[in-house]
Amino acid sequence: MSSEQRPDLVLDARSVTKRFGGLVAVRSVDFTIPFGSIVSLIGPNGAGKTTFFNVIAGVYELSDGEILFNGETVIARPRRTWAEPIYWFVVPTILLILAVAALLAGIGIIGHLLFLATLLAIIPALLVALTRPRWYVRMIGRTGIFRSSRPNEMVSLGIGRTFQNIRLFGNMSVLENVMVGMHSRMHANLLDAALRLDRHKREEEAAVNDARKWISYVGMAGYENEAARNLPYGYQRRLEIARALASEPKLLLLDEPTAGMNPVETREMTGLIARVRKDLGVTILLIEHDMEVVMGVSDRVTVLDHGEKIAEGSPDEVRANPQVIEAYLGRGAASA
Ligand SMILES: Nc1ncnc2c1ncn2[C@@H]1O[C@H](COP(=O)(O)OP(=O)(O)O)[C@@H](O)[C@H]1O
Ligand SMILES: [Mg+2]
Repeated sequence: MSSEQRPDLVLDARSVTKRFGGLVAVRSVDFTIPFGSIVSLIGPNGAGKTTFFNVIAGVYELSDGEILFNGETVIARPRRTWAEPIYWFVVPTILLILAVAALLAGIGIIGHLLFLATLLAIIPALLVALTRPRWYVRMIGRTGIFRSSRPNEMVSLGIGRTFQNIRLFGNMSVLENVMVGMHSRMHANLLDAALRLDRHKREEEAAVNDARKWISYVGMAGYENEAARNLPYGYQRRLEIARALASEPKLLLLDEPTAGMNPVETREMTGLIARVRKDLGVTILLIEHDMEVVMGVSDRVTVLDHGEKIAEGSPDEVRANPQVIEAYLGRGAASA
């Protein structure tokens, strides 16, 4: 179903539409993000920016279109999902048939062993069904079964995000908030943790060190044990970025990271965004309400208005586009 592949793109959204009942929040938007770039999505309030973000992050099912991440379709209309449960029980069913055959053939002991194996095989089958590892998703994908990735699955694929309205664990410390973001990168399992095995302890220590590293990266060294809710607003925003970086994303989605900031905080945040791309090579999709904020950092700018893409190009091209000035900046800004 997908047309040609573009290996230079980390994200390739193809004619994405999202409806809420009768309202079309995003209409047939094509949008691509090259590896290593900073691209911005701007537009007036209600243009559909956050909705588009949430579709990419796996929060909303899209109504139409397709999203490829790293060359792989991860979000699209579901196909043949009813057939998926059949896969969960293939192995147990084969074992059960063999068990019955063995019993009928009078090989009682083998029949009983196979019957036991059937019961045991159900446990891993259910685990695979619940955790949906990549190899399993690819396997069923080859037979035409497809379900869009959920938000946690998008995080483990490499999409990190922050929210338009800050979402931190207010009572938890700065350090704990960042460690939440690392969860998808930890490998010790419950058994390791329960037995307090070395692997778990080592991973825990490494996680704390990493978390401290991200906290100081965003300029908050010394605040590790502060409760998140006691932080000044600008620091809460930075902490959200530290938490998103801790999941080691390939693509970072930032929803209005400078909203409500004073000019100094805004400048610092803009600097941080540029550094994340430069130092870490993380690709960034920035949503901004304020057009001036994106001009300095963005390679490309896409403008949404009433859910539709009305312009796309370099910051200068977009700034000079009459349709953008008219629809987005309003009449007063045309002369500014
Ligand atoms: N969960 C939702 N249910 C219904 N309508 C929604 C929902 N989320 C957003 N909308 C509507 O979709 C449109 C786009 O909103 P949004 O994506 O938040 O815009 P932006 O982030 O550009 O300000 C608005 O008209 C908004 O009211
Ligand atoms: Mg928004």
